[in-house]
Amino acid sequence: MGQSPLGGAAETYNYRVVRQFALMTVVWGVVGMLVGVIIAAQLAWPALNFDVPWLSYGRLRPLHTNAVIFAFGGSALFATSYYVVQRTCQTRLFAGPLAGFTFWGWQLVIVAAAITLPLGITSGKEYAELEWPIDLLIAVVWVSYAIVFFGTILKRRTPHIYVANWFFGAFILTVALLHIVNSAAIPVSLTKSYSAYAGVQDAMVQWWYGHNAVGFFLTAGFLGMMYYFIPKQAERPVYSYRLSIVHFWALIFTYMWAGPHHLHYTALPDWAQSLGMVFSLVLLAPSWGGMINGIMTLSGAWHKLRDDPILKFLVVSLSFYGMSTFEGPMMSIKTVNALSHFTDWTVGHVHSGALGWVGLVSMGSIYYLLPRLYGRDQMYSRRLIELHFWVATIGIVLYIAAMWIAGVMQGLMWRATNPDGTLTYAFVESVKATFPYYVIRLLGGALYLGGMLIMFWNCVQTVRAGRPEDARVPAVLAHA
Ligand code: HEM
Ligand code: HEM
Repeated sequence: MGQSPLGGAAETYNYRVVRQFALMTVVWGVVGMLVGVIIAAQLAWPALNFDVPWLSYGRLRPLHTNAVIFAFGGSALFATSYYVVQRTCQTRLFAGPLAGFTFWGWQLVIVAAAITLPLGITSGKEYAELEWPIDLLIAVVWVSYAIVFFGTILKRRTPHIYVANWFFGAFILTVALLHIVNSAAIPVSLTKSYSAYAGVQDAMVQWWYGHNAVGFFLTAGFLGMMYYFIPKQAERPVYSYRLSIVHFWALIFTYMWAGPHHLHYTALPDWAQSLGMVFSLVLLAPSWGGMINGIMTLSGAWHKLRDDPILKFLVVSLSFYGMSTFEGPMMSIKTVNALSHFTDWTVGHVHSGALGWVGLVSMGSIYYLLPRLYGRDQMYSRRLIELHFWVATIGIVLYIAAMWIAGVMQGLMWRATNPDGTLTYAFVESVKATFPYYVIRLLGGALYLGGMLIMFWNCVQTVRAGRPEDARVPAVLAHA
């Protein structure tokens, strides 16, 4: 709060919590990707676990997924949603101390994950590995997040709710629902619990959760970023506001039903698998509608792409979003899935979405935010942003191309049979054939991590040269 020229106390935006989450996004990005590089190296050279249990692949892999999705991605989502909701509602964040609690609570969850997962404490459910005491903490933090976010929407000064907030809001509500339902468990000790569901119901609840974690954690929230930061950086209004509303409702309705595509050819009833496939194919339309809306926002401003590295991050992230949301529906077709499932094709699909879409859009948004949070005109070095962009993009291409080739090769080798009906290849032959691709993936991952380290350096220099500054909430409604 400061003194306004008119004498009254001028309200400022709460940038403190945005700064905290923005900085931790960069820190957790480095940590999570480093663990990714380590497990990528272990897949090429398994001896790199040094026979130490807590360095074993099975324990580090969930550490990687939790660190990149919930620590890196989660911190980016908290930072941007808190910034965007204040700016577009033109009011200070509701319940400041509670917002502060969401920061410390979320960091505590991350630290608890970083300790328990290497110790082998896990519920065994993918992307929901954390044991019940940590799950309870997540639920408390998440409900607090919802109170802060929706409280700010309620006290807004603008007449309407900007579309980015619809996406952030859907992400917050749905993740609360997914987490609470999927984590229902019976504890037997402080560190062990069993799922409340059994058999195929357990699998279906898990993949209803898993797929919607992709749809709402890794997609809807980041679309919220896209709808704010692309128009801001391009200095153009969203291409079609009407399309953004259709995009929103179509996307959130369709995602909910697509989960069974993770359970093709299992004990799940056939009709449920087919339903999942059909809804996945339908999902192509809203996904591409959103991508086109984002890309077309650059109409008349394409020249800016040439020398604005932040815009490059934001727009190229959308091309990867388009690519992975084309590939996903194709992989959900049962006959295609018969080839792709269990292979590295899935891992390639995941990382074209994760590195290309989630990673790049978060990095672009943080580059936009950081100078504004520290009272500076721009980041310390523009050339380093440009360098980061190219290093990361080359890294992604190496990673996903290697995994596609490896995946299709594995699928074909596993199904090849001789005229007498025996298998043409032993499994180990497919592992040997995959080795060079694992090395190329490692190289791609190392480049991507290198880009993140460049960003870390650039952010440290920007923060050192600036000082924390909270912008004033305008007295009269203005453009956010
Ligand atoms: C330096 C960057 C990265 C490297 C080297 C890397 C490497 C890896 C490796 C080796 C695996 C295990 C694959 C397997 O089990 O066969 C993996 C899994 C995974 N990673 Fe990454 N990763 C990176 C960044 C990211 C980011 C930024 C995200 C998300 C935002 C992410 C999300 C995931 C997910 C969801 C899985 C599980 C995939 C599945 O179960 O199919 N990764 N990563
Ligand atoms: C229209 C959108 C999409 C559809 C229909 C879709 C569909 C699929 C399919 C069919 C699989 C393979 C399931 C299997 O064989 O086990 C898959 C795996 C996966 N997808 Fe997507 N995908 C979409 C978009 C995305 C995006 C944008 C991301 C990331 C940001 C993503 C992340 C993942 C992850 C993490 C997995 C691996 C799950 C696991 O087995 O651990 N997907 N997706």
